[in-house]
Amino acid sequence: MSNKIQSIRGMHDVLPESSPHWQYLEATVNKLLTGYGYSEIRMPVVEKTELFSRSIGEVTDIVEKEMYTFEDRNGDSLTLRPEGTAGCVRAAIENGLIHNQQQRLWYVGPMFRHERPQKGRYRQFHQIGVETFGIPGPDIDVELMAMTARLWDQLGLKDVRLEINSLGSLSARQAYREILVSYFKDNFDVLDEEARNRLETNPLRILDTKNPNMAELVQNAPSLLDHLDAECAQHFETVQARLEALGIAYVVNPRLVRGLDYYSRSVFEWITESLGAQGTICAGGRYDGLIEQLGGRAGHAAGFAMGMERLLALLEEEGNLPEQPRPHIYMVTFGDEAEQAGLVLSEKLRSQLPGLRLINNCGGGGFKAQMKRADKSQADFALIMGEDELTSQSVSLKPLREAGAEQLRLNHDELIERLKQQLQA
Ligand code: HAM
Repeated sequence: MSNKIQSIRGMHDVLPESSPHWQYLEATVNKLLTGYGYSEIRMPVVEKTELFSRSIGEVTDIVEKEMYTFEDRNGDSLTLRPEGTAGCVRAAIENGLIHNQQQRLWYVGPMFRHERPQKGRYRQFHQIGVETFGIPGPDIDVELMAMTARLWDQLGLKDVRLEINSLGSLSARQAYREILVSYFKDNFDVLDEEARNRLETNPLRILDTKNPNMAELVQNAPSLLDHLDAECAQHFETVQARLEALGIAYVVNPRLVRGLDYYSRSVFEWITESLGAQGTICAGGRYDGLIEQLGGRAGHAAGFAMGMERLLALLEEEGNLPEQPRPHIYMVTFGDEAEQAGLVLSEKLRSQLPGLRLINNCGGGGFKAQMKRADKSQADFALIMGEDELTSQSVSLKPLREAGAEQLRLNHDELIERLKQQLQA
């Protein structure tokens, strides 16, 4: 026998027992976003490599070390999308969705990053992302945060906190960059190797270090918030005032810089302490420069994405996952004729009782074997069609989950009436 082929490290199957949880999350988000006026967009999973290097940034972990990049048969360099923003902006420019209009879009799907897999960090993971175009003010930044706050509320999540920061305008960031580089150069001894490498290429990312030996250095670093221009400072103040007006608690974290280069002004992350090291469940911000950078006419943009695996892990941790819907009925039949009559009856029930969950016994089997399957299916009732039932044009309804409840013999109309009541309960 040949060796079994295994899935790729960091890429997981969603098994039948957990797919209802994914569906629940998607349905809840879909309803919420629709309520705020957002429409779904579906983009390809593969894009030209250049799209990501130009948007996420050449000197970022994602582009430097994590992309699944390959040459296709034409010799073009393609990449499995590591995130959705770049593709969404590309699609919006290409399809004329940006110029002179506002857009509120969302998407869901797999993303790919060759990271070191651990709890909450995978090589294929799933995001639900939201992108808005054409809205310059802090109003949309706050809408994005308020919408996510409402989602946590609807999902029953408690242990989440909002961190916000402003990365200012490009020119403010360039001026700050020089101040930061000179501060880090003065403390060169304390920098680890990665930070020394980042010093010339992407010094802001040093603020994001996880190295405890550099914690104090980073803590005392000059803050970008002290170097914002007046317009950016005003924008950030309005964001804070609106969050306060809405009663949404937040923390200003001046070291929140994000791992992708396209951000400007507001950035935010929702973080939980319940999932260990990978506690960011949702992250995003404003990225006004990106549309132009990708060849569109200059325009405004803001969005976020949440990690579905992390959200589901948190829902499980906090005991907030819904129970799987159980079948109402498992149909048990004996003999050829009864099997056929049972089939006809079950299709009639499905036509007359929308929402009915009914499983037909397939593959034959004796009474015991069929009842065993009925029990295993978790159905509330077994519907039994044997010879007796066949001749009297009736059917037996056997409760499977109520101790001591009696089996009933019903004609078809009585059965439909009874199931109607059951479905309404
Ligand atoms: P990001 O911070 O790279 O931002 O990812 C957003 C979220 O995706 C993270 O907070 C996390 O929940 C989840 N995530 C990221 N990497 C992994 C992984 N390897 N395994 C599991 N979950 C992961 C973006 O992707 C931006 N496109 C967000 C955005 C949209 N900004 C503006 N619009």
